Amino acid sequence: MTTTFLKAALAVAVALGLMATSAMAQDSIQLPAPAKTGGKPLFDAMSARKSDRNFKPDELTPAQLSGILWSAFGITRDDGKRTIPTARGRNELQVYAVLKTGVYLYDAESNTLKLALAGDFTQEYAKSPLTLLYAAPNEVLGGLHAGSAYQSVGLYCASEGLANVVKVTGADELKGKLKLPSGYEVLVVQSIGLPG
Ligand SMILES: Cc1cc2nc3c(=O)[nH]c(=O)nc-3n(C[C@H](O)[C@H](O)[C@H](O)COP(=O)(O)O)c2cc1C
Repeated sequence: MTTTFLKAALAVAVALGLMATSAMAQDSIQLPAPAKTGGKPLFDAMSARKSDRNFKPDELTPAQLSGILWSAFGITRDDGKRTIPTARGRNELQVYAVLKTGVYLYDAESNTLKLALAGDFTQEYAKSPLTLLYAAPNEVLGGLHAGSAYQSVGLYCASEGLANVVKVTGADELKGKLKLPSGYEVLVVQSIGLPG
């Protein structure tokens, strides 16, 4: 009786431990290499691009996450230049991914997400499984770069049948919590998910 009880207790403890581990924020998430070919023809994607504010709660796949971040600010050339044009070669745009386990900074060079803030903030952003926060110095170039990035992601979403919406509302939701470089602000956010 005692042994059976102990075995059952141990099984529950292991299960709980596994659940806690899977829900815990990892310091770094290695993304798979982004697909750089395929997708809808460009004109079809441009025609299909639209705002959609209703999302299924389903998580996006690692391949989708990688494609989205690469579209936003991925490296396309040996000299480090990006999927979006950048004035004066300034690669100062920061793209954060709000996921269930935390808020992560996209590092294009290593194709990883680096934990910046642990915790689930997805409910604050349209209840979508992924929201990108575009942070940059609050000046014209910062806004232009963020705009190029959300348009690139909007086209990726149109190509892949994902819903997305760009918002300035809620851009300061994590002010004081998310530590940004001096002078930086989250200028605009973009929520993404399967259409609801
Ligand atoms: C810079 C920017 C900020 C926006 N801010 C918001 C917002 O705060 N809330 C919202 O519901 N939609 C916001 N939108 C989405 C627009 O309302 C939407 O793009 C517009 O209605 C046109 O629809 P479409 O994207 O389907 O063409 C924003 C769009 C842009 C480009």
